[in-house]
Amino acid sequence: MKIQIDPHALQREALRRRAQGQRIGFVPTMGYLHRGHTSLLSLARDRCDWLVASIYVNPLQFAPTEDLAAYPRDPEGDAEKCREHGVDCLFMPEALYLPEHRTRVGVDGLSLGLCGGSRPTHFEGVTTVVARLFGLVQPTVSVFGEKDYQQLTLIRRMVADLAMPIEIVGGPLVRDTDGLALSSRNAYLNSKERSRAVTIYQTLCHLRTRVQAGVLDTEALVQSALSELQVDQLDYLEIRDGLSLEPLRTVQPGARAFAAAWVGRPRLIDNLELLS
Ligand code: PAJ
Repeated sequence: MKIQIDPHALQREALRRRAQGQRIGFVPTMGYLHRGHTSLLSLARDRCDWLVASIYVNPLQFAPTEDLAAYPRDPEGDAEKCREHGVDCLFMPEALYLPEHRTRVGVDGLSLGLCGGSRPTHFEGVTTVVARLFGLVQPTVSVFGEKDYQQLTLIRRMVADLAMPIEIVGGPLVRDTDGLALSSRNAYLNSKERSRAVTIYQTLCHLRTRVQAGVLDTEALVQSALSELQVDQLDYLEIRDGLSLEPLRTVQPGARAFAAAWVGRPRLIDNLELLS
């Protein structure tokens, strides 16, 4: 596995491989890799000739009050996991943007609610960095996790709207044995907080059970679920359409529940399909 820190050297190699007809697979991350990330590497590995993973903690997607400086890092452990999962090139730039960078890429509407509500600048930072990474890596196929369901939806929209010839593949959300969605930020949780954090997943499962029992009124569903959450502060618990991300009054096929809450220091997110 090659470790590449130079964006333009990476792009030169990518362009050369594309010209030879190779399929380039790409999994962008912010590092501190866990089984959620490596599941995406395996999905991408099966779909390409040359697999690129990136690790870059993107300042543009963090607000000044957020955990950019404290974001957990483990470059050596990450490189080992990438090697084990068949990555050909691990891109770990120190500087990703040009000093004179001025461009922002934003997706209207879809970035407003859910995580965009409490993190108003976040998704513009995500789509901007992913657009630049796509330009450098020249992927044929890129894999994103359903853990960040709104992010995945936005990336699909951006790629369609900007006519980027890239196949976007969504990878299933990977959970710990107790159901907690794997996240690099789980590293911040102490054991008591961890057991409270699981109530986010349990609440989503309870919502699904009630939907299966025939309760379809979303306001009633959400109201009845709130008391189960043992979190320090709830950001949102909402039921929306899984494709358009529009809020729903009544559960319909494809409906998903979305939750975000602070438990101790980290803000955790999760989502679950309620009706297929
Ligand atoms: P990061 O949080 O490191 O996540 C990288 C990728 O791993 C994302 O596609 C995310 O959805 C996926 N992922 C994280 N936890 C997962 C889990 N438990 N199951 C399945 N997939 C999971 O998302 C980002 O980084 C950044 O916003 C990025 C796209 C790299 C842009 O900076």
